[in-house]
Amino acid sequence: MTIKKVLVWAKELLKGVCERPQFEAELLLAYHLKQDRIYLVLNESKKVDDLKTFQELIARRTKNEPYEYIVGEASFYDIELKVESGVLIPRPETEILIDLVATIIEKEQISSIAEIGVGSGAISIVLVRKFPNLRIIATDICDTPLRVAKKNSDFFELSKQIEFRKSNLIDEVSESVELVVSNPPYIAEDFLLESNVVDYEPKEALFGGRVGDELLKQIIVDVKARDIKYLACEMGYDQKEPLEKFVNEIGVESITFYKDLAGFDRGFVLIY
Ligand SMILES: C[S@@+](CC[C@H](N)C(=O)[O-])C[C@H]1O[C@@H](n2cnc3c(N)ncnc32)[C@H](O)[C@@H]1O
Repeated sequence: MTIKKVLVWAKELLKGVCERPQFEAELLLAYHLKQDRIYLVLNESKKVDDLKTFQELIARRTKNEPYEYIVGEASFYDIELKVESGVLIPRPETEILIDLVATIIEKEQISSIAEIGVGSGAISIVLVRKFPNLRIIATDICDTPLRVAKKNSDFFELSKQIEFRKSNLIDEVSESVELVVSNPPYIAEDFLLESNVVDYEPKEALFGGRVGDELLKQIIVDVKARDIKYLACEMGYDQKEPLEKFVNEIGVESITFYKDLAGFDRGFVLIY
């Protein structure tokens, strides 16, 4: 079959699975052929080799497996990161958290921070690439994210700036740091998620407890107990009210919530 015909076939199968079937069909075929999308346009009448392998990629996608797990990579901020099953696919809204933290780092001349729940390394890697003097201790409770984040960090030659550590929250971080950043699991246990998320992404990265904000509250308490001045976290769209109440009870200097591009409450910067 030619590239043109294969794309028509794949697009038909991907309708109803994803929002942009033509685009994803092209991305997957380009990945299969180890070419870019322009190549497909310029070589429409060329025959596709090893069609069976490409059909298997499309079959995985029709079962809702995220595109990023199929190709093993995700675009985030200004980089491509390796991802695999067991590691959360970094989301565009987390870029807002990074920009807010970058503003604080710049303004306060911060040189040492910790990240809780490093996942693919998205937050830590982008931050140290912005600030060559910044050092980060990045924790995760699971082994796969730590291994994948290390691989991503090594790719960008950042081993002098990021240290990865297996830890529950910041329990194993005894060094003094000036700021903690985290995009922790914050979804309620019974929240109904789409199949591409719940059937493929790691539960440890998604669910924050029965209510959802349990880990966030624990992070707020732990960071306060360690006399660290700044905490910046992503959170769920419906968690502003309970978290505001919680921090008012424990007492902090200020908490400022921010929204994502869709206008939903998405996180906060806390000064103790
Ligand atoms: C929502 S993901 C965020 C990943 C990455 N930072 C990002 O923004 O794409 C949360 C991460 O926190 C980790 N995690 C869950 N519970 C944790 C805990 N108690 N201590 C440390 N890390 C934890 C998960 O394994 C997962 O990698």
